[in-house]
Amino acid sequence: MNKRKIVVSSNSGFCFGVKRALDIAQAALKKKGKVYSLGPIIHNPQVVRDFSEKGLKIVKDINRAVPEKAAFLIPSHGINPEALLNKKGACIDTTCPLVSRVQKIVKDLRRRGYLTVIVGDRKHPEVKALAGIAGRNSVVLKDRKKAGALKLESKKIAVVSQTTASFSSFKEILSEIAKKDFTELVSFNTVCRNAIDRQKEAGRIAGRVGAMLVIGGRQSANTSRLADTCRSVNKNTYHIESGKNLKRKFFKGKKSIGIATGASTPPDAIKEVVKKINEATTYGAKRRKSCGRIDP
Ligand code: F3S
Repeated sequence: MNKRKIVVSSNSGFCFGVKRALDIAQAALKKKGKVYSLGPIIHNPQVVRDFSEKGLKIVKDINRAVPEKAAFLIPSHGINPEALLNKKGACIDTTCPLVSRVQKIVKDLRRRGYLTVIVGDRKHPEVKALAGIAGRNSVVLKDRKKAGALKLESKKIAVVSQTTASFSSFKEILSEIAKKDFTELVSFNTVCRNAIDRQKEAGRIAGRVGAMLVIGGRQSANTSRLADTCRSVNKNTYHIESGKNLKRKFFKGKKSIGIATGASTPPDAIKEVVKKINEATTYGAKRRKSCGRIDP
């Protein structure tokens, strides 16, 4: 009987920044019992649920919702430090060091009078924080089209990117900005190496399998980028949060299935998906009675 081939990207599971954030949060919860977090610590619903059961309470406004002197946590994607100017209490900073580096670059660019172009998604917390640090002399761009139409009110321009932005979007926007009138143009490739490697490998796998599964939170920027990358080479690409979202039609008749994950996807999520696929039918055969619950 034929068995489906499953190819799992070697760049799967937590990146070092996410792992570091979870380790810090775990240690803080052990010590303090209850900690407040400004938004989810990472963008993965299973992990967030797990940590909330351990005492991590998500709040929207750290100044209003956190009792005075209570311990509070800065999530891995960082916040604008100005939001904490009057905040007392123990601050547990889990900002990824690569995100902190972009924040420092942007702060310095502001001090030196550059107009900062931030490549990324304006609704993402990392970009909101960067835009806050950059101040009024900044603009957020997601795609090349908007960059072409943009009128820049400064001759000193700098371009940086969200750490989990698409590297190709960063290069496209940079080349559009380079066509404009300027006296100085500086750029910093601040796309995380881990995110670039994930995108490259996932794209390679997607190009040689029948269907591609990208596992990760719907709110996770880097997972969405991965899914976009895979979809551009394989239209049978599906973004799922866990094995619960797996449908038989995703891999029906496919001899090979690729799997890639976002940087905030726990390794257990991959095991669950692989197990469910293996328990389901082999390609071309009828569904076995004993297979795991996979919605049609
Ligand atoms: Fe940091 Fe890159 Fe992960 S920016 S949180 S190591 S995806």
